[in-house]
Amino acid sequence: MTANARSPEFGPEHLAEVRRLQGLYPDKRGALLPVLHLAQDTFGYISLEVEAYVAGLFELSPAHVHEVVTFYTLYFQHPKGRHVVAVCHNLSCHLLGAKGIIEHLTQRLGVEVGETTPDGRVTLLSVECLCACEQAPMMQVDDRYEGNLTPEKVDGILGGLR
Ligand code: FES
Repeated sequence: MTANARSPEFGPEHLAEVRRLQGLYPDKRGALLPVLHLAQDTFGYISLEVEAYVAGLFELSPAHVHEVVTFYTLYFQHPKGRHVVAVCHNLSCHLLGAKGIIEHLTQRLGVEVGETTPDGRVTLLSVECLCACEQAPMMQVDDRYEGNLTPEKVDGILGGLR
C-alpha cells in the first residue's frame, strides 16, 4: 500500500478489497462509505487528495465525495488524535446536561469541538444521537460508550487516555 500525501494510492490488496466491496452492490456507489473507511484507515484521514483518488475509483466527481465526507462526523478531514471523544448533543443528552459536559471537555482539553489537542492525544467531537439515550448524557470514546456523564466521571475517563 502507498500512503503518499500528494498522491494517495491503494496497494494491490486494498484495490482488490475496493473491487470486492463494489461488487456487493447493484450500483458500485453503494460501496462508497466502506471504501472511505478503508481510505481513512489507510491514509490516516480523508484529505482533498484522498477524496479525489476515491472519486476516481467510483467515477464520481471529487465534489460528490466531499459532500459525503463532510456529511458524516466519523470521517476526518485532518489528522485525528490517538483517541476520539464524541459527545452526543441530541435531545435527551442536551436535556440532561450535554452542553455542560462539552464545555467541561473544551476547558480540560484546551481545544474547541472539532479540534485535536496539540499533543495529538484527543480529538473532541460533538455528534448526533448515539442511540443510548437512556444513559444520557452520553459520549463515545474510541469504540466504547460512556454514559450518565458528570464532570467528575469525564475527568476519570480523560485520565485513562494516553
Ligand atoms: S440523545 Fe444522546 S444518545 Fe440519544
